[in-house]
Amino acid sequence: MTGIEDKRIAFIGAGNMGEALIKGLLAAGTVRPEQLIATDVRTDRLETIRKAYQVEALTNNAEAATKAQILILAVKPQVMDGVLTGLRGAVAEDHLFLSIAAGIRTGSIEAKFPRPTRVIRIMPNTPALILAAVSAIAPGRHATPEDLKTARQIFETVGRVVQVEERLMDAVTGLSGSGPAYVFVVIEALVDAGVRMGLPRETATLLAAQTVLGAARMVLETGKHPASLKAMVTSPGGTTVAGLHVLEQAGVRGTLMAAVEAATRRAQELGQ
Ligand SMILES: NC(=O)c1ccc[n+]([C@@H]2O[C@H](COP(=O)([O-])OP(=O)(O)OC[C@H]3O[C@@H](n4cnc5c(N)ncnc54)[C@H](OP(=O)(O)O)[C@@H]3O)[C@@H](O)[C@H]2O)c1
Repeated sequence: MTGIEDKRIAFIGAGNMGEALIKGLLAAGTVRPEQLIATDVRTDRLETIRKAYQVEALTNNAEAATKAQILILAVKPQVMDGVLTGLRGAVAEDHLFLSIAAGIRTGSIEAKFPRPTRVIRIMPNTPALILAAVSAIAPGRHATPEDLKTARQIFETVGRVVQVEERLMDAVTGLSGSGPAYVFVVIEALVDAGVRMGLPRETATLLAAQTVLGAARMVLETGKHPASLKAMVTSPGGTTVAGLHVLEQAGVRGTLMAAVEAATRRAQELGQ
């Protein structure tokens, strides 16, 4: 049995990401509300989640762990150590941990428990909130192929999933984890550029954002190399090549590569 249809899933931490996953799982019909448990330190937050999704809501993480087989660790990295310590007495052999905490290694979660513990680390990104995430998953030492299927099944409800070796998780953080912010900057700049050229802001925003979305979908849906898609819209002596020339002079490619490198290095530092 690889599925999660017969399992209960506890979200330890029901903040932005916890809620996005609850929403995705229910919207996809992958699980029923009674299979889900949400925990949080904030009772008002839990009440909101319970009302919106009809899931069980608890303030006690250990109690949630005793009722579930899959534990999704969705608290901030700074509180993870205390959360894991609080779970020690409640964790059994059949528990699977799925951790989305940035920078926390599977090895440091495994080390908190006396017996071999199945852990999978996942790095989703904020478009999970609208079910358009891309998540990278990396198995810990004791995770099985079945566990990876389970993680995939859960995270595919909020978007796409890729598997990587854990040593590449910092690069994932630098690219797709931080990436939405880079793209927001690009969209904002395109909007201002449109306004500068006389377009109303609302129109410029739609033009810019839909252009980024459309271009991204062309890459994903045609499977063509971005350079070949670019060549298709770049006619000799035309408008696009005039714009591209300015981008190349400004070193846009090198700047984006340096941004991903800087974010990856920062993720490495924070993980130490
Ligand atoms: N948001 C993203 O784009 C993103 C992307 C990739 C990975 N992540 C990772 O996902 C995790 C959650 O991020 P988020 O944006 O969802 O954060 P968040 O909105 O702050 O959610 C975390 C929730 O956990 C609660 N909490 C704190 N201590 C707890 C405890 N001991 N037991 C149970 N719940 C507790 C928090 O309450 P308080 O607010 O009162 O502390 C908060 O409601 C983080 O580790 C982050 O690194 C996030």
